Amino acid sequence: MRWKANGAVTVVTGASSGIGRCLCELLIDRGATVVGVARRADRLTELESRESIGHFIPVTGDITDQVVRNQIVEVANGVNESRVDLLVNNAGIGAIGPFANASPDRLRRVMEVNFFAPAELTRVMIPSLRLGRAAVICNISSVLGHRAVPDKSEYCASKFALHGWSDSLRAELAGDGIQVTLVSPSTTRSEFFEKLIETDAGNDSKSIGSWPPIRVARTTLASIEARRSEVICSLAGKALVYGDRVSPPIMNAILSRR
Ligand SMILES: NC(=O)c1ccc[n+]([C@@H]2O[C@H](COP(=O)([O-])OP(=O)(O)OC[C@H]3O[C@@H](n4cnc5c(N)ncnc54)[C@H](OP(=O)(O)O)[C@@H]3O)[C@@H](O)[C@H]2O)c1
Repeated sequence: MRWKANGAVTVVTGASSGIGRCLCELLIDRGATVVGVARRADRLTELESRESIGHFIPVTGDITDQVVRNQIVEVANGVNESRVDLLVNNAGIGAIGPFANASPDRLRRVMEVNFFAPAELTRVMIPSLRLGRAAVICNISSVLGHRAVPDKSEYCASKFALHGWSDSLRAELAGDGIQVTLVSPSTTRSEFFEKLIETDAGNDSKSIGSWPPIRVARTTLASIEARRSEVICSLAGKALVYGDRVSPPIMNAILSRR
């Protein structure tokens, strides 16, 4: 059975910018109710006032806060008798720079936002997803959750964790009819690189063929509708991931040339 946006009850974290914001717009334009989460209230208000056939319900807060996660579930459960058809764990942060020069806080913060928060939000949302129509948990990972690179160790670790956890969860929830879709974008032209934590000025992601966030959002929605297990975005992303699968030693040698 395909997943349908029209009439669906959906939750999207990281709704205030980039991929998450574009995905919210696509979902409400197709008739979904979207509970959208982020810390910047003004950005969520803009989405709330967008005229569309669907609805946007903002939840303002930090997803690393358990009180906020419980509030998200409460708001989503209030839409249609505790039924949730889609949870998109999209909110994420990054950092660039050698691990040896970074503080322990950088690792903690990246893991909290990119891994522990989505895992714990999912835990409290599973009962509602079990009531959903062809429900999907969509985790926005990264190609760096398939092949790690230097100077992004914390970020790669968080996305590898999300990847491994998603694979386990997919097998565990198959009997409940819940699909887990792992989307792995490559470099995307969002606000992501303006908000890197504990990162020296001038550090940026060197990547060819970056995608705009709307393209990642469209690919994500198509993957959810088709109930795919995994999708890797962009040619450069595929080259990195599949190149590594073919020959990890060659990829190690390329990435170690500094
Ligand atoms: N950009 C890339 O090159 C790229 C590549 C691969 C994968 N990704 C992944 O794609 C996802 C979306 O990133 P993006 O490119 O769209 O970046 P973005 O424009 O910076 O969006 C990130 C979103 O996450 C929210 N967020 C961050 N920390 C949060 C927190 N503690 N609590 C609640 N919301 C939080 C932000 O909202 P507030 O600041 O308002 O809270 C924002 O809405 C991330 O998981 C990222 O790792 C991005």
